[in-house]
Amino acid sequence: MHGANKIYPTEKDETGAVQKAIVARAGDYQIRRCERDDIPAVIEINSETLPEHYSDYFYYEILAEFPETFLVAELGGGLIGYVMSRIEYGFSHLRRLGLARKGHVVSVAVREQHRGRSVGSMLMQAAQEAMLAKSATECYLEVRVSNTGAINLYQRLGYRTAGRLEGYYKDGEAALVMAIPLGQ
Ligand SMILES: CC(C)(COP(=O)(O)OP(=O)(O)OC[C@H]1O[C@@H](n2cnc3c(N)ncnc32)[C@H](O)[C@@H]1OP(=O)(O)O)[C@@H](O)C(=O)NCCC(=O)NCCS
Repeated sequence: MHGANKIYPTEKDETGAVQKAIVARAGDYQIRRCERDDIPAVIEINSETLPEHYSDYFYYEILAEFPETFLVAELGGGLIGYVMSRIEYGFSHLRRLGLARKGHVVSVAVREQHRGRSVGSMLMQAAQEAMLAKSATECYLEVRVSNTGAINLYQRLGYRTAGRLEGYYKDGEAALVMAIPLGQ
């Protein structure tokens, strides 16, 4: 997380106004937990940036079930990125045998004009920390084999390729499954 300073959530500022819990910041960008009111902006960012779209209900459902690991990036009061993740229990992507409590990054995106400023890395690392706090021992995700920018970013963060899913996406493209251990 380049130049990111962790700060602790404040309940209220000096005027008594309730502050949104900030989990990280880098420059003027802030990472905080997603709230219900943020979902329309999250859906807008998803439609602008990714071919994988979900029903509105899906976003609200993930937020209700996994509020700790659904984070947004904000600049001057406007949302410019998000990471939506959930906690699952199943076969480990990193150990040959055995079950694991896993964080699963369902979707991550940053608006195009804000890319290349470490916001994506910061969102990923903040989500990983939140997963660790929820006792996950690894984090995994699927990424299009053609999405070299995202694959490079994940590799730089320490993810390694744990598998390949042929025809994973609706248009027939394959996915790489990438995973990283948490808390090591
Ligand atoms: C993948 C994504 C979330 C990364 O977000 P980001 O904020 O650009 O991430 P970072 O700035 O932390 O890192 C991006 C890397 O791309 C490079 N980069 C530099 N300028 C860039 C630019 N204008 N646009 C994209 N990438 C750039 C940098 O090399 C940077 O690596 P570095 O830190 O070693 O310099 C973002 O590109 C995105 O939203 N893509 C579309 C949605 C998507 O593909 N999501 C992933 C699905 S699995």
